[in-house]
Amino acid sequence: MKAVVCEDIWMTYKTFFGGSKLALRDVSLEIEEGEIFGILGPNAAGKTTLISILSTLLIPDRGKVKVLGMDAFREIKKVRERINISSGLNLPWSLSVYECLKFFSLAYGILEENRIENLIESFELSDFRDVEFEELSTGNKQKLSLAKTFVNDPDLVFLDEPTTGLDPEVARKVRKKIEDIHRERNITIVLTTHYMAEAEQLCDRIVFLNKGKIIAEGTQKELKKIIGAKDVISIEFSSKLDEKVLSKVREAKNIYAFDYRDNKLLLYVDDSEKRVKEVLGMLNPFWDKIKKISMEEATLEDVFLELAKRD
Ligand SMILES: Nc1ncnc2c1ncn2[C@@H]1O[C@H](COP(=O)(O)OP(=O)(O)O)[C@@H](O)[C@H]1O
Ligand SMILES: [Mg+2]
Repeated sequence: MKAVVCEDIWMTYKTFFGGSKLALRDVSLEIEEGEIFGILGPNAAGKTTLISILSTLLIPDRGKVKVLGMDAFREIKKVRERINISSGLNLPWSLSVYECLKFFSLAYGILEENRIENLIESFELSDFRDVEFEELSTGNKQKLSLAKTFVNDPDLVFLDEPTTGLDPEVARKVRKKIEDIHRERNITIVLTTHYMAEAEQLCDRIVFLNKGKIIAEGTQKELKKIIGAKDVISIEFSSKLDEKVLSKVREAKNIYAFDYRDNKLLLYVDDSEKRVKEVLGMLNPFWDKIKKISMEEATLEDVFLELAKRD
């Protein structure tokens, strides 16, 4: 069974002054059971809207959504028993960590104290058990928001930008926690992020959302293949290159994409070790201007920027 199947989702918001805003256009996707699935895209791409629809919080204008084999619009209650969502740091401000988890447990009719205590321990919140939500650090607020997502022992969780606004050290811990939970509980996780590196670290498969539309989807490997390039060669120069050399490089057969700005040349190639010799051959008259050469694997960011340009 698929964890999520959605077809042809369209979503418009009515705006305050009587206008409307198209937030999702013809979105279809499938999420496999047990995977970590990433919805990646810049601000206002439609990530929160999409995740809200998949988690039964919003009904779109059009389209179908099946969650864990159930109709997400007709069987809302049954779906909600099996899923949960963490979206923003907006928990009841005056409840302590313990009270907050108790509150959400009660919302699901769960009375086991054990489960609450396990969550407090597992999310390293023992020292803050009686601290009110409002008094917690942003990192601990985020941990509590994640912990409360597990009160009903869900099979599928949605995490909306779980590391946005956290300092790098806390963000790293939260990512590690997401990986651990995924492994230990063997559940499906759907997360949104605008951090490419986060998606690279965590996600088995990814969709890129841009202006409400999916512009690409697949595994990281598949996505990197879409732009035909696996590697990036980056060469920094001490001064400007002349147009003749640039056009020679730009037109070279094995260079898939090309970027030159601020005296820095970025070349997207199939295999940097193979191509670097050819490139240096072409740049021969300018060797004394080369400050630095580096070769790296293409990142999801490279893919996204390239795809957003084509869209
Ligand atoms: N309640 C709302 N009313 C009107 N427009 C909205 C509302 N929520 C979101 N939008 C608009 O819909 C688009 C998608 O928003 P959102 O799903 O929040 O994107 P993301 O989570 O990727 O930043 C944005 O242009 C946003 O301004
Ligand atoms: Mg959002």
